[in-house]
Amino acid sequence: MLTEERTFIAVKPDGVKRGLVGEIVNRFERKGYKLIALKMLDVTPEMAKQHYGEHEGKPFYPRLIEYIQSGPIVAMVWKGYDVVKGARAIMGSTCPNEAQVGTIRADLALVKEYNVVHGSDSIESAEREISIYFNQDELCDEYDNMAEIVIKDLGC
Ligand code: RTP
Ligand code: MG
Repeated sequence: MLTEERTFIAVKPDGVKRGLVGEIVNRFERKGYKLIALKMLDVTPEMAKQHYGEHEGKPFYPRLIEYIQSGPIVAMVWKGYDVVKGARAIMGSTCPNEAQVGTIRADLALVKEYNVVHGSDSIESAEREISIYFNQDELCDEYDNMAEIVIKDLGC
């Protein structure tokens, strides 16, 4: 049985500055996932620490906190069947040189420190991250998504 999930995706500051917002949004949109929230914002120090708390103490942590605040991000919530895992597959591995060709990071990024996109790594992380960046009334889930309709028609 397919389960519907939500995930938090963000175009990181390097992706925004390089003009990759449309390209990155398009990768998830054409897959068939349903966009239920999107906004541009500057990440505050508090948000950065909440978001990346799991990495506190690691050598790359200070640079990561600085990076995510180095310009605006485009924060999004996507909904769909198995979307947490599926979105990570579309993004590719953390290190662009280890990512599969055809993924966002393999195609658009050079180094892991500036890998253009973030995606939640579990359903629990997704719900936690969504609550950092969005209020409940910012989520627009009341419209029909064509991919979901097709899947339901097929009886999956
Ligand atoms: P993200 O959370 O941003 O989607 O990335 P991820 O799951 O693929 O990777 P994660 O291990 O959660 O690391 C978070 C971000 O920290 C930076 N990083 N730098 N210099 C390093 O060794 C290093 N390792 C990770 C990357 O920007 C990575 O996306
Ligand atoms: Mg991560």
